[in-house]
This record gives sequence, C-alpha cells and structure tokens, in this order.
Amino acid sequence: MAEYLLRCAKCGEGRTEDANYVACPACGGFLEVEFARVPANPIDPRFASIFKYHPVMPYDPTVEDIQAHEDLEETPVVPARRLSDKLGIELFFKDETVMPTGTWKDREGYVTIHRLLKNKVADLVVFSSGNTATSLARSASIVKGPRLHFVIPSASRNRIQALKKFYHDDYVKVHFFDGSNDECSAQAAKMAKELGYQVEGGFANYARREGLKLLGLEILLGWKQRVDWYVQPIAGGIGVYSFYKAHKDLGVADQCPKMLGVQADICAPMVNAWKDGSAVLEERHIPQEVVPSEFVRVLRTRRPVDSYPVLKTLMDRVGGRFEAVSDRQIHDALRLLYLDEHYRETYKRSGKLVGLEPATALAGIVKGVGEGYIRPGEKVLLNVSGAAKEGDIRLEWISDLL
Ligand SMILES: Cc1ncc(COP(=O)(O)O)c(C=O)c1O
Ligand SMILES: [Zn+2]
Repeated sequence: MAEYLLRCAKCGEGRTEDANYVACPACGGFLEVEFARVPANPIDPRFASIFKYHPVMPYDPTVEDIQAHEDLEETPVVPARRLSDKLGIELFFKDETVMPTGTWKDREGYVTIHRLLKNKVADLVVFSSGNTATSLARSASIVKGPRLHFVIPSASRNRIQALKKFYHDDYVKVHFFDGSNDECSAQAAKMAKELGYQVEGGFANYARREGLKLLGLEILLGWKQRVDWYVQPIAGGIGVYSFYKAHKDLGVADQCPKMLGVQADICAPMVNAWKDGSAVLEERHIPQEVVPSEFVRVLRTRRPVDSYPVLKTLMDRVGGRFEAVSDRQIHDALRLLYLDEHYRETYKRSGKLVGLEPATALAGIVKGVGEGYIRPGEKVLLNVSGAAKEGDIRLEWISDLL
C-alpha cells in the first residue's frame, strides 16, 4: 500500500486519512495527497488497467477487493496525422471518449466512490452539470453505495438522459435546480447542510484529483513519449492539477510539459485573471452572467476561486497558460476533429460524437499556433476529454464530414 498523508497547503499539517475530508479540519485549507516516497516500481505488472498504477495511487488491489468494483481500461493515444499536417505541429489525441460513460470523469468517479466507501460515508450531495454525475452514478451503482444526491442545472435536463442507463435508483437521487453552475453548487452546499450530509467538494475533493491523475500516469508510464504541450478544456481545472501531480508523484515534476487550459469566451474567468497577471481570482475576472450558447454546455463555471490560485502557480512553474475561444472557433475546431479518420470511424462504429469540450481545447491549439506560442513542429497532446451527450451537437455542423 502506498504510504501517504493528507497535507494541508495552508497550515502544513499532515494527517492520516481517518475520515472523508473535503478541507483541512484544522484550518479549512486545501488538502493534497502526499506520498511518502517515489516508488521504485510504479507499475505492478500483476494487475491490469488502472490497478497496475496502485504504487502511486491511494488504493491497493493487493489488500483490497476492488478489482470487481471497476473495469476502467487505459485509453489510447492516437496520432492525428492530417490535422498535424494542417497545423504544422505533431498532434496526438488522448481518447477519453472510450471510457464507459464517454468521458474522463469516470476516472474521478471510481476513486471518489472508493474513498467514500472506505471512509464510511453513506450519503453525499453532489453538484454536476452532467458528466461528473454520470460517472459517479455509474461507480456508486456498481459498488452499491453510497447514496448520491445530485443537484443538476435544469439546463442539463436533456444532457443527463443517458445517465439513467448507468444507475440504480437505490443509490442515486436527482434534483434539478434553476440556476447557473455556481448557483447549483451553492444549492448543493445548502441542501447538504439541511440534510446533515457531506458535500462532494469539486476541486477540493482530493479523490477526484487523484482519479484524474491516472491519465497523467498512463502518459508517463504507459505511452512514455514526451510532449511539449498538454492541452485540455477547463472549467474547475482538476485535470491540469492532476497532470502535474502525476509528474510530481513520480519524482519528475521538472519534466512536466507546458500546459494550456482552454475556456470559452462567454465564461473565461481563469483567462481573465491570468491575462491580468493576477495570482488570485477577483470579482472583476468573473463573468457577470453566462449567456446561453449552444457551443458551451459544460465549461460554464464562473467562480473557480479555489482552484485558480493553485493552477496559476502550476502554470507559472511549467510555462503554461490559459486561452479563451469564441463559439465560431469551437465550431470550426469541432469540424477539424473529423479530418483524421479516427473519429469518423468511431462515429460509424458506435454513433459516438466528440464533445464540445475537446473541440474547445482544440480551438485553443489552433489559436496558439496562430499566435505563435505553440511553435512549429512542437509535440502536442490534446485531452479529448469526452464524447457528446444527447443534444449537445447538431449533426448539421458536421454531417458532411461523417
Ligand atoms: C468532457 C469534459 N471536459 C472538460 C471538463 C472540465 O473539467 P474541469 O471542471 O475539471 O476543468 C469537464 C467537466 O465536467 C468535462 O465533463
Ligand atoms: Zn490546515
């Protein structure tokens, strides 16, 4: 079992994980999983899929009966040859659309549910715009607990139709709420208080962050190629933290590539703060309201106040940055994803379409190449973080390419 403490970034106290914490119980600070050492052998070849990385994860299939709980496979890295030629870079897709519910959030789902069970949490209130909820619902239904009480924006009602297929009513209750992501998140906190349950925590939930770390471990230990840039769509920003953390926990933080976090123009608080050179997210960086856009369904978090300062520090360390793109740029990038045959074939085989979030990230790459900060010939890894959910994409945007 990897030995670790939960270390508070604010007061510095390290504690063993004797309960499910979403913040330091002493001072309310940000908790990180701090491993005692870099493992000599980070891969345990006796195990398949995500379990073989347990020497750098807070779970242990050698002593816990957890393999029956999950079957997440590693996801492939696919070279995007035609798109690379077009952009003058070397681009690769990390294809998270193959995950069981179609998004990378399945990684967060598994580790979160595992931590909750381990720490004997029976009920949890969760805010989600759909993808995280789907993943958590799936994991809780496989593992048979805990009971999850979701607060979901009414605007996502159609998006989560697919969720039903993954859950069992005994473990999942869905409450719709009229409001933005941030208002729904506040509603979740209120509901948790009234019911006497814990709230999931978002970026503060170290289990989610450790879950997404698996993606970085697969790149470092499985794929083994080094890239110049890691690029992803960003709302709360867990993935950027986790990609860096994979490097840190393997003792190669200094080899972490430059990272690019891409938001949509209509909701780009991190970009606003970053362009301002600010270490924290201030009121002036937060969009007053998020106007509806059919190109932005998930990346609509207005107040990532807890994560931005952490991500800003990491971006400064690796020479990374934030970028914002318009609806038109997202639309055009969505089409570019079908230039290579990979996603055309995925569609033919499974009916699965790439989501708007990876298109947003690709639009950031196109912009970065145009502005010159992504240089010709650089090797770029795009996190294709998820497939489209019902109603996310109008087929006419891409039908001529399929
Ligand atoms: C497919 C997809 N991509 C990107 C994101 C953004 O992730 P984060 O909120 O961790 O920045 C999400 C969040 O739900 C997502 O579902
Ligand atoms: Zn503390």
